[in-house]
Amino acid sequence: MGCSRLLNLCLVLHLTHCLDMSGIETDIEIENPVTGILGEDIFLRCLYLGENDITDASWRRLDIRTKRMKKLTGYKNTGPFTNDPEFSVPASPTNLTVKVRVSSLEAQGMYTCVFATDEEEITKSMFLTVLAQPDIHTFVTEDTVNNTHYQSVTCSATNGKPTALIGWEINGSPPPDDYFTVALKNSSNTNSTGTVTSTLRFPTHRQDEGRVTCVVQHPTLPNLSTKVTVRVDTFMAPNMSIQTDLVVEEGKEFWVVKCAATGGRPQPNITLALPNQEVSLMLQKEDIVDASGTWVRSFLLSTEFHEGENITCLFDHPKLPQTELRAITLPTFYLSAVRLLNSELADSFDMNQAVESLVLKEGQRQTIIGLEVAGTVPRYSIKCSKGKQPLPEGVLVNGSALTLQGPVELHHAGLYECEASYYKHRASVLLDIMVTPRVTQPVAVPPIMSVDVQDRLGERFVECLAADSVPVANVSWVLPEGLSGPSWSNVTSHNGSHTVSSVVLLPACSASQLYMECVIDHSAFVLPERIQITLPACATPNISIQSSFEWSEDVAYTTVRCAVDRVRPAANLSWSLGEWDSARHNSTSHLMEVQEQVQVQPGVNSNGSVTVLGLVRFPSVMLAGQNVTCVVDHLGLQRPERRRIQLPGLESPVMGAFVVMQKGSPLWLAVCEYRGDGLRANLSWVLPEDATGQTSLVSAYEGMTVQTNLTYEFPLALHEGQDLTCLIQNQHGLNERRKVHVPRYDIKSIRVLNETTPLYKPYGGELVIHRLALKENLHNQRILLKVYGTVPTYKLTCHRSDGSFVPMEAQALVVHTVELETVLYTCIASYYHHQASVLIQVEVTSEDQQLMTVFMVCVSSSAAIMIVLIVALCIFCKRNEEEHPKSKTYMKQESLATLTPLTQEPDSPNFRKGNGAGGESQEYAQLLSYSIVIDVRSTV
Ligand SMILES: *[C@@H]1O[C@H](CO)[C@@H](O)[C@H](O)[C@H]1NC(C)=O
Ligand SMILES: *[C@@H]1O[C@H](CO)[C@@H](O)[C@H](O)[C@H]1NC(C)=O
Ligand SMILES: *[C@@H]1O[C@H](CO)[C@@H](O)[C@H](O)[C@H]1NC(C)=O
Ligand SMILES: *[C@@H]1O[C@H](CO)[C@@H](O)[C@H](O)[C@H]1NC(C)=O
Ligand SMILES: *[C@@H]1O[C@H](CO)[C@@H](O)[C@H](O)[C@H]1NC(C)=O
Ligand SMILES: *[C@@H]1O[C@H](CO)[C@@H](O)[C@H](O)[C@H]1NC(C)=O
Repeated sequence: MGCSRLLNLCLVLHLTHCLDMSGIETDIEIENPVTGILGEDIFLRCLYLGENDITDASWRRLDIRTKRMKKLTGYKNTGPFTNDPEFSVPASPTNLTVKVRVSSLEAQGMYTCVFATDEEEITKSMFLTVLAQPDIHTFVTEDTVNNTHYQSVTCSATNGKPTALIGWEINGSPPPDDYFTVALKNSSNTNSTGTVTSTLRFPTHRQDEGRVTCVVQHPTLPNLSTKVTVRVDTFMAPNMSIQTDLVVEEGKEFWVVKCAATGGRPQPNITLALPNQEVSLMLQKEDIVDASGTWVRSFLLSTEFHEGENITCLFDHPKLPQTELRAITLPTFYLSAVRLLNSELADSFDMNQAVESLVLKEGQRQTIIGLEVAGTVPRYSIKCSKGKQPLPEGVLVNGSALTLQGPVELHHAGLYECEASYYKHRASVLLDIMVTPRVTQPVAVPPIMSVDVQDRLGERFVECLAADSVPVANVSWVLPEGLSGPSWSNVTSHNGSHTVSSVVLLPACSASQLYMECVIDHSAFVLPERIQITLPACATPNISIQSSFEWSEDVAYTTVRCAVDRVRPAANLSWSLGEWDSARHNSTSHLMEVQEQVQVQPGVNSNGSVTVLGLVRFPSVMLAGQNVTCVVDHLGLQRPERRRIQLPGLESPVMGAFVVMQKGSPLWLAVCEYRGDGLRANLSWVLPEDATGQTSLVSAYEGMTVQTNLTYEFPLALHEGQDLTCLIQNQHGLNERRKVHVPRYDIKSIRVLNETTPLYKPYGGELVIHRLALKENLHNQRILLKVYGTVPTYKLTCHRSDGSFVPMEAQALVVHTVELETVLYTCIASYYHHQASVLIQVEVTSEDQQLMTVFMVCVSSSAAIMIVLIVALCIFCKRNEEEHPKSKTYMKQESLATLTPLTQEPDSPNFRKGNGAGGESQEYAQLLSYSIVIDVRSTV
């Protein structure tokens, strides 16, 4: 029908076109026909192709009411105009192309394009067709007819011009005819639009696609058609299962039959089928949909019935061609036997299986006879009877046990029957209970228990005594872990009662406290008695170590003493001696001998403790500077204790020799000394054969250090200038010598420093007496003396010719009162055996004599000064001549050589001799002192 309408439209359009074409050929080019869609824009095109000037150009349409041509838009007097808001202004007078908005269906009609020149109006018409796009709507409805679910999908295209066409697609193909129906409805409006409605209907279970498509065809649609997809419901067959569980509700057992459907849409109709509907006590519970979407319908069935029956779940679902069944067989229960559980009560000699025999003791309390029921029943109850009679008093069934609460009595014996039941299931057992009468026991006397710990001979005796018991008690020990010792038990009986003594022997002590138990079991005891014994730990031994030195012959020995005080039992002592290794030093040298000794002394207390003393003795040099360790092992120590002592190191020996003069003795002393550690030395002097001095040896010891001094006392004269040698030796390789020099001394002369006049012997010309004049009437006049020589000190004495001594003041002879006569003094300087003397004759002079003497002295003095100057000049010249870069001592010797002739004296022969010996000894030369003496020779 819609198709024929379209055909009519085309026919009309074609006619119009034909009319235009039949017109005279003009200079106008127009587009004809034109189709516009309601609500959209279109262009009307009209061009003037002629040569004439256009004065006026316009689009015109016949107004239906006024029956006149109305100007819509155009050019007038070279200005554009528009009278219709839906029309745009043309581009130029010759180009009447305008845009038109199609706002209503009335826009359809004939339009004329007019170009006017001064002479004529040229026209050409075109036809505008207006189409309207339909509105498309869809909806789904559902209904159930004869228990079948249907869905209807309605698709409508309203107010389309021309009327639209509607078709259906399912999964790209048209719906099959067998169960899909399509209902079509058309209607048209006065304004030449039309509406079409199509309804697709189908039973839901036959359709699996889930969506259907409505296809609308219309010229206004893009690609001339549009597809609207509509969702529809689909059904799905569920997975079905059956399951049974045993539950207890209100004290009764039930089977829960669960019929489950998973993944079905819609929910299936579930029913339960039982073979024997009459006895069934079926209870349907509320349906449950669990979290996974499984639909479960549960039924409760009494376990009393339905045993071994086939029960079936029936599932009805639109997707299932017929009712689906899921069946399960319920289990069958049985009770096979009742047996005795406590086998210790069973009479082991009874082999009869039908009757279970058991023996009880008279007086036995709290007797429980357990019964074991074999079978598959979920629950059972036990009933017992004694010889078809109810149970005697005090005997009752408790769960699955027959209990005799009070003491068992003889009348409890008999044949009992116990039956277990569950509904119709039953099983029973016969129990033959025998009661053995009580045997009267002799009166039990519990033992008197005691424990005694004694220390004997370094061991611990632990005794456990269970005395005077009836019957004999059983004594056993629980010893500390890891400890064992010999043990024995003695049983003595007296008057029918028994005494058990059990002794265990353990080490005397241990590093920690120990706990042990004596266990005494006796029939009078419910539980064995346990006596706890605590064995105290040993006292930690007190260890001390010290060293001492002693000398034996010429070797020092070190004794290290390690004492372990008051220990019980005795400790073991051993030594570790520095780096000394007896294997390495197996030398026979007695300097490598070690002596060891261990003494055990009884302690002060009478508790058996002892003091262990370890001594080790060795030559001090052997382990000097090393450690000696005393290792003590004792039961009271977790591990051996080490005590160390560091021995002093060896100092290198000091040896020397020297001579000294002794105060208050005429003898000199030569000392040779040795100071050393560990070893002594023998000292001896190597002396000339004529030596008459005394030697003496003194040794002093301090620890391992010895100081030995060998002295030699001698008169200086004996060894003056000699070397004495001391030999320092011992058997251990020491061989040293030390030399000491005895210095040589002399006294050359004594001079009188006062003015004297020499008095010569008549022929020899030697000076013998110094004449000296003292003033008259002058007291305490001094005669100054000076001693020349190399002695460190000397003794100066003067005496008169009658032998009387004259007082001395230091180096001066003091003359107190001057007698008027001439006195001869003899002055002697001495040092040991060295001596020098001078004779002084003292005379008294008067004043005149004195003046004369002064004069004489002055004359001779000036002469002497002259001589001195001359001599000094000579020396100076000579020194200048011999200016060499020589050492100071050399220079000194040079000048000495020049001066010595001046100081030569006849009464000092020793000096001359010494000088003659040349550089015999440098130090000896240093001892000399020199003076320039001016000898004034004048004869008065
Ligand atoms: C006429 O005018 C329209 C719109 O202004 C334009 O698109 C078209 O090209 C013109 N035609 C000619 C031949 O000038
Ligand atoms: C329903 O089913 C019955 C029996 O099959 C039939 O007679 C009846 O016509 C059906 N009704 C419809 C509406 O299909
Ligand atoms: C045509 O007429 C129908 C019914 O009177 C109306 O619903 C519809 O809007 C009209 N269409 C137009 C384009 O006027
Ligand atoms: C379920 O099935 C039973 C028996 O077949 C029927 O009586 C009942 O109406 C059905 N219920 C539903 C909801 O289909
Ligand atoms: C139960 O079903 C099983 C198999 O489906 C069959 O062998 C058995 O005989 C059935 N029992 C009863 C009591 O119907
Ligand atoms: C145990 O008996 C034996 C001999 O019969 C005896 O030598 C021993 O001393 C006794 N011991 C005790 C602890 O009485």
